Amino acid sequence: MGKLGSLFKYAGSIAVILAVFAMGLQYYLDHKTYLFDQAELQKIAERCVAPDVTRFNHSGHGGTGWLGMCGCAGFCSLRSFGGCLESAADQLDRETAFANITTELRRLYPDHILPEVEFIFINAGGWMGTFGLLHASLTEYVLIFGTELNTSGNSGRYWADIWDTMLSGEFRQWPEGTVRSVVHKAGDTIYHARGEVTGVQWTSGTYMLELGRGVIPSTILFAVADTIFSTTDFMTLAKTLRIYGVAVVRELLRGKI
Ligand SMILES: *[C@@H]1O[C@H](CO)[C@@H](O)[C@H](O)[C@H]1NC(C)=O
Ligand SMILES: *[C@@H]1O[C@H](CO)[C@@H](O)[C@H](O)[C@H]1NC(C)=O
Ligand SMILES: *[C@@H]1O[C@H](CO)[C@@H](O)[C@H](O)[C@H]1NC(C)=O
Repeated sequence: MGKLGSLFKYAGSIAVILAVFAMGLQYYLDHKTYLFDQAELQKIAERCVAPDVTRFNHSGHGGTGWLGMCGCAGFCSLRSFGGCLESAADQLDRETAFANITTELRRLYPDHILPEVEFIFINAGGWMGTFGLLHASLTEYVLIFGTELNTSGNSGRYWADIWDTMLSGEFRQWPEGTVRSVVHKAGDTIYHARGEVTGVQWTSGTYMLELGRGVIPSTILFAVADTIFSTTDFMTLAKTLRIYGVAVVRELLRGKI
């Protein structure tokens, strides 16, 4: 056998080893117990930022969100305001809603929510948004994602399953291989399976509570690619890597992978 032959054999062995490793890792991920539960997160989102009245009467989609923040004390009166759409969009309500979600998560998952929620820009897949990391480990993350721009692009293809519960705004999703797109609104939960890719578009003022499960470090490359090669904003890159690194180490110290 020549040099080329042994090279192929070598590459082949590496491919087999990687494939077996990947299968083992996937088996582990499918059978491990996770800390966060999608149904629980959805309940928290609904409790703290319930979608608008139309959803409460069970006909069709919720509206722009923020309207009937009923589970959280003091917000029911918002529903009776005519101008609650405008007031709902205002900064204070948004921040209060996020603070409420964070408080609720801290109560339910003590020690596993980062002490401070910092919103960091994310440029990826051609779109621009912001994320506030609440929890991250090697196999799980929870964050609030959103954008103040009408923005669109590629969802990314991940080795992770992702659930988004819409808090406000509008999320258009265009599944691969189709000639139709679907619009999701406040109160909806969207599941993005590992290995899938979609076209995505968010309207300004869209926010969602996101849960990810899988090989989380593998998603970082997509998350920072546009930052490295397009915006070259190395401050944002440093912030992103720092917050993720800090979160992972915090969880490892608590014995969570
Ligand atoms: C329920 O929602 C629909 C819109 O989806 C609206 O037309 C209808 O008036 C609502 N009914 C009540 C009782 O609020
Ligand atoms: C949500 O925030 C409001 C205003 O700060 C507060 O009164 C309320 O108790 C909070 N609710 C929850 C569930 O944290
Ligand atoms: C985003 O798009 C919607 C309609 O698609 C429009 O009503 C809204 O004004 C746009 N927002 C901004 C900030 O341009």
